[in-house]
Amino acid sequence: MKKKLILALSLLLAFSMALAGCSDSSSGGKTEGGSKGKEDKLEIFSWWTGAGEEDGLKALLKLFKEKNPDIPVQNAAVAGGAGTNAKAVLASRMQGDDPPATFQVHGGAELNSGWVAAGKMEPLNDLYENEGWKDKFPQSLIDMVSKDGSIYSVPVNIHRGNVLWYNKKVFADNGITPPKTFDEFFAAADKLKKAGVTPLALGDKEPWTATMLFEDILLGTIGVENYTKLWTGEVPLDDPGVVEAAETFKKMLSYINDDHSSRNWQDAAQMVGKGEAAMNVMGDWAKGYFVNDLKLKTNEDFGYITTPGTENSFMVITDTFGLPKGVKNPDDVKKFLSVLGSVEGQDAFNPLKGSIPARTDADQSKYDEYGKQTIADFGKAELAASLAHGSAAPEGFVTKVNQAINIFVTQKEVKQFVDSLKAASGDLKK
Ligand code: GAL
Repeated sequence: MKKKLILALSLLLAFSMALAGCSDSSSGGKTEGGSKGKEDKLEIFSWWTGAGEEDGLKALLKLFKEKNPDIPVQNAAVAGGAGTNAKAVLASRMQGDDPPATFQVHGGAELNSGWVAAGKMEPLNDLYENEGWKDKFPQSLIDMVSKDGSIYSVPVNIHRGNVLWYNKKVFADNGITPPKTFDEFFAAADKLKKAGVTPLALGDKEPWTATMLFEDILLGTIGVENYTKLWTGEVPLDDPGVVEAAETFKKMLSYINDDHSSRNWQDAAQMVGKGEAAMNVMGDWAKGYFVNDLKLKTNEDFGYITTPGTENSFMVITDTFGLPKGVKNPDDVKKFLSVLGSVEGQDAFNPLKGSIPARTDADQSKYDEYGKQTIADFGKAELAASLAHGSAAPEGFVTKVNQAINIFVTQKEVKQFVDSLKAASGDLKK
């Protein structure tokens, strides 16, 4: 009898442990504080895990916890740069009517042609009214998170995508100054190659990094206006400017590391940080990685300059969070968005993340030299929306471009590449 009871109890224990294990892995993260039941946990979904990505998020969650000790938070981050894996997990959850309480989504097409058009998001105009946010965020950003007069998410940051990072010692040792034009870039790259240094680090294990490099080359070749018109169909994708950018891209690819396809963005940035390569083109989350993970000093160990030909342009990537329809705890989500959209929230997050605050009234003294300059640049530069990060065009099109780029990186066939871009343009309207 006693034996039977023990067996029954251990079966029950095993069953409940298995259940707990299942729910943990499905939410993919750790619970941070609070005292409510599991169903009340505020699931914050992003792709900010480890290596330069999660420091800002952790600071924001900490601040939220201080202000709302009764609301337990689940950090449901899914690893993979630029949401490589998180976006797929999110899509299946949204399709299954199991949205996280709130999730990372880029302003622009990813939000508006994606989740808003699919009827999956609640408007947040009342939150913006109550918080007095309408004149605290730049209109250009509010436009990126609005559709048909309704506002659907709150930007936590602004990342700049057109940045060339370089190792200061490698540049100094080889007598190189930061290149402003493509000609200067190739002159520097030749010099470095001759000296036995890898000129440009790329880590396109996840193809979006090569797409970023290409979009920055495009921007530097045809300028913001024509770059933007590519995604509205006003400039065709086989425009001579696109062909020229593809030729430049091909040339740049002859200066990259051989093992590029087995590295991710952090691995590529690390080559520059450690002096194994001279330059890397990456968004300014790379600065968060250099400073927080590699413990390097801005403007001492590494330097930065806008990618060739883009001095007066700003490739915008804004991470935003909204309120999905059908969540159990909409009021708690709004409390989280209030903290994320506050000056305090933005200034806790952005100095660590490498980005600048989305609000115009943040405390600039909290940002380093790079941050201060980027804040000033954002105010005066011409803005372009990133294609690689889903802001410029719908997901179906971006997926096809990523595929075309992935093929181009190995085959380097300009005509075939431009033809496949052109062939994908039908997906621009979807
Ligand atoms: C972007 C995102 C950034 C950063 C980057 C690398 O899409 O906006 O915040 O996380 O991916 O993962």
